[in-house]
Amino acid sequence: MKTTGNTIFISGGSAGIGLAIAKKLSGAGNHIIINGRDEARLQHALKELNSAVAIQGDLSIKADRVRIAEDLRTNHPEVNIVINNAGAAFMNDLSDTNNDAAEKAYHEMNTNYISVIDFTALTLPLLLQQEEAAIVNVSSIAVFRSNKYLPTYSASKAALHSYTQGLRDTFSDNENLNIYELYPPLVNTGFSAEIGGANGIPASEVADELFIALEKDQVEIPVGDTKKIHELVIPVTENVPH
Ligand SMILES: NC(=O)c1ccc[n+]([C@@H]2O[C@H](COP(=O)([O-])OP(=O)(O)OC[C@H]3O[C@@H](n4cnc5c(N)ncnc54)[C@H](OP(=O)(O)O)[C@@H]3O)[C@@H](O)[C@H]2O)c1
Repeated sequence: MKTTGNTIFISGGSAGIGLAIAKKLSGAGNHIIINGRDEARLQHALKELNSAVAIQGDLSIKADRVRIAEDLRTNHPEVNIVINNAGAAFMNDLSDTNNDAAEKAYHEMNTNYISVIDFTALTLPLLLQQEEAAIVNVSSIAVFRSNKYLPTYSASKAALHSYTQGLRDTFSDNENLNIYELYPPLVNTGFSAEIGGANGIPASEVADELFIALEKDQVEIPVGDTKKIHELVIPVTENVPH
């Protein structure tokens, strides 16, 4: 799809991968709408972007999702790309039975999966009015392999992956709407600091890969270390009758 002249909403666009994507796409001549919970962080991020505005809100809360979608309908009816990037993760040691594992999993599922389903339902009518539109769901390498540090987070991203496949199938006949899935490996951001994120790739590399994929209409976007496992798994699953 075109990579300039779009109006792009990025959830979690005030830091990390979301901000790197905002910088890349704003530099390429797109109008950017960033979102995050912390207003000061949003204002700070806006200083690094051209042609950008912010909509504060917590996407894990229904009322905020409804308000943000309404703001887009009223003030940015031309929005044609929604990037669902905001995410939640908790270290969750399943051997510690006093760890409130289910409570953490609930928060992860709510932010990483349920909220995306609901925000998609709220913004789809707008996207379907556009000549060219896209949804980009940011999942993770953890879709393919869980681990003992982030077992419930991995499960929530696997749910997001499965939903994204289904959403893509739902709109497979619609030439105006593409459903992308971006799978970052370990990336050096505040989010990953606890799990050794300093060894990860820079967020700008993820943004560069997304940009190239949009240009090529390449809806599956594995990045870095995700590429090898993606190459082994996805062609097999695509051949399963569905
Ligand atoms: N970093 C990695 O190694 C890695 C690897 C694979 C996948 N990912 C995925 O990439 C995405 C971005 O991660 P990141 O590493 O860039 O994180 P980050 O550096 O912590 O940035 C997260 C961004 O999301 C916002 N945010 C968090 N919760 C939100 C909510 N409920 N509603 C609205 N905004 C919210 C944050 O701002 P506020 O705090 O102000 O709300 C911030 O702008 C996540 O979905 C994550 O699962 C990350």
